[in-house]
Amino acid sequence: MSDIKEMSLEEREATLGGIGSARKRKEDARFIRGQGNYVDDIKLPGMVFGDFVRSAYAHAKIKSIDTEAALAVPGVMAVITAKDLEPLGLHWMPTLAGDVAAVLADKKVHFQNQEVAFVVGADRYAVSDGVQAVDVDYDELPVLVDPRKALDADAPILREDVQEKDNVGQGLRRHPNHIFHWEVGDKTATDAAFAAAAVTIKEEIGYPRNHPSPMETCGCVASMDATNGVLTVYGTFQAPHVIRTVVSLITGLSENNIRIVSPDVGGGFGNKVGAYPGYICAAAASIVTGLPVKWIESRMDNLSTTAFARDYHMTGELAADETGKITAIRANVLADHGAFNTHAQPMKWPAGFFNIVTGSYDIPVGHVEVDGVYTNKAPGGVAYRCSFRVTEAAYLIERLIDALAQKIGVDKAEIRFRNFIQPEQFPYDSCLGWEYDSGDYPTALKKALEAVDYEGLRREQKEKAAKGELMGIGIATFTEIVGAGPTRNCDIVGLGMFDSCEIRVHPTGSAIVRLGTKSQGQGHETTFAQIVATEIGLPSDAITVEEGDTDTAPYGLGTYGSRSTPVAGAACAIAARKIRAKAQKIAAHLLEVGEGDLEWEVDRFRVKGLPERAATMKDICMAAYSNLPEGMEPGLETTSYYDPPNFTYPFGAYVCVVDIDRFTGEIKVRRFYALDDCGTRINPMVIEGQVHGGLAEAFAIAMGQEIVFDELGNVMGASFLDYFIPTTVETPVWETDHTVTPSPHHPIGAKGVGESPNVGGVPAFTNAVVDAFAQHGVMHMPMPHTAWRVWQTIDELGLNK
Ligand code: CDP
Repeated sequence: MSDIKEMSLEEREATLGGIGSARKRKEDARFIRGQGNYVDDIKLPGMVFGDFVRSAYAHAKIKSIDTEAALAVPGVMAVITAKDLEPLGLHWMPTLAGDVAAVLADKKVHFQNQEVAFVVGADRYAVSDGVQAVDVDYDELPVLVDPRKALDADAPILREDVQEKDNVGQGLRRHPNHIFHWEVGDKTATDAAFAAAAVTIKEEIGYPRNHPSPMETCGCVASMDATNGVLTVYGTFQAPHVIRTVVSLITGLSENNIRIVSPDVGGGFGNKVGAYPGYICAAAASIVTGLPVKWIESRMDNLSTTAFARDYHMTGELAADETGKITAIRANVLADHGAFNTHAQPMKWPAGFFNIVTGSYDIPVGHVEVDGVYTNKAPGGVAYRCSFRVTEAAYLIERLIDALAQKIGVDKAEIRFRNFIQPEQFPYDSCLGWEYDSGDYPTALKKALEAVDYEGLRREQKEKAAKGELMGIGIATFTEIVGAGPTRNCDIVGLGMFDSCEIRVHPTGSAIVRLGTKSQGQGHETTFAQIVATEIGLPSDAITVEEGDTDTAPYGLGTYGSRSTPVAGAACAIAARKIRAKAQKIAAHLLEVGEGDLEWEVDRFRVKGLPERAATMKDICMAAYSNLPEGMEPGLETTSYYDPPNFTYPFGAYVCVVDIDRFTGEIKVRRFYALDDCGTRINPMVIEGQVHGGLAEAFAIAMGQEIVFDELGNVMGASFLDYFIPTTVETPVWETDHTVTPSPHHPIGAKGVGESPNVGGVPAFTNAVVDAFAQHGVMHMPMPHTAWRVWQTIDELGLNK
């Protein structure tokens, strides 16, 4: 009702800082000043510390554990072993995948660095001395490292605890080292298409074991208040509510007596989704000692024991006609899950969403089989910047389509245009069971090719080849499936994968927004406020976003697999719309008109045809607590639980150009252009940050990262000396771009973006490297593309002579 002419429409819109605005990240004010509040910053009165005695062996029987010397170390208060946890039923824990995992090794160890005992003491030094003093006597057993040998008749049996079970949570199995068999598609039709095909290709394509390696390792502070019976756990949790439910199920504590708090989290990337022995042992130790117990992982512990990613050994095949139009796809995958099946996928999907392996292409039939196996390695198989095995699937199809192009001599961009799902085919039902919501792949690739002058690059490549120089151009036109997910498709321990948002608007026109997700660096405090700002017309600056405390946030399934925007972002918009609907009633009351006489404009309701008569959102906020229509409850608050009708399908077109030194094998990334389409863009600057970070990780994976094991199961990549983490010195310069194809079912049309650069980046790198050797008949080169490995290819081909 007040002064509506003070600012233009555009100025009012800009003041809100809503959807589309490249606002600086609110949370960075504390991060760049070193004032974040991470788990290791938490210090509670009387707090003690715990750490693990870990196994030196990958597979061995435990003959005895002697704790006497450790208990004699000054400051050591307790040494907990599986025997101590057994009476509490805590020596094993259920996994998210329906298996069980040892909390502390029970009679035997299954992988190197497995947790054997938990030493609790007054300070970290005492605990470290105590860990050294524990004497464990082992009897070594034969070690199983190679997943290809896991199902051999004479393979060592790893899991005697489940040896007799024909199902360890994800369907029938056929060998004591077998975890699951999963298949999808039409085998008969696929076999027939292959039999009739003019061209077929078949490639063995591995995606090595790597590790999310977040900057902050995992850790927790568990504090049992014996007086009121409440267990509080501060931890590095990507999904705090799920952890609360799992802790309740494991310990038998009533869920209302458990409070889980994720303070600031320094990167997650899937590594911080599951439950680890450290959490259980710290909680048990706090219950026993009555003191708060802190456990913080070292870098080596993180790399060698907490959840790894990938480790997919894939055989991929394409059938096509003579023009390169794909007629069928077939994939056979061996998944190495390590010692326990602790991978974090929605329950019904033992191989995650690997059946998105059809990618951006219109493929009429397909068949996919995946078998999971146990090996003597750390357990895991998490969605590292990936929506549940999408990364592996995208890598396979993007490699295969390049191989097909090479085989039939068609340009690698052209073969993609020939196979793309066309814009008018959306919503598109893939032969492997997904309904792609929207996309425009040809436009994206055309834009990418023009931006890099693709034809010019191909000319240059030819000229260089004539001089014996190696230059490669890699294209990846990937499609993802993110936003797990519709509860009909997706659950975790039976919990549907919805998400939630609660909004409380205060009388003076500010608000607090709480969500079931948890940012680990993605900028949720900024971007979720932007959604609410646009929807209810209050400035982003006046909106506080809070996540991570189960006592205050509504129940949600957490943040991973780029689900925050598709699911919680939608909950945010829907909750805000409920607020706006009530605000409209209040506005009608204030303006003494019918609700239908009002129209929304940026930050106010106006009377249709009488623009000078309006109620601003600020006026309405105060009225919600002071001047309401007859019979209306006071307040302006609501909660939305959002169960998405479908996933969202972001996509991209990436081009990578490399020059390879034919004497050293060294690769120089000359250019990397990344076009992403994540639908409506909430904050272009945050998106760019996500893309830069994801591309740096993709570069690391493609060029150097691999967790390898020797034949005794010794882990060879457990420190940053051995495991490649690129710095700004090695990291290429990124060029980013976008198109916008909104999701038709998301309330604001947004799709996820966080994982796209990792999903699309890795195949773009490999495709560029292989492309440099294509003229010499090379169809595939295994990652990581270290100079040594590349040099070996050069040497075999005699290109360095
Ligand atoms: O689940 P997670 O936060 O890791 O991934 P996401 O949903 O892809 O979002 C990552 C960040 O990018 C968040 O801050 C989003 O709000 C932002 N984003 C955006 O600004 N616009 C989009 N269309 C998608 C994400």
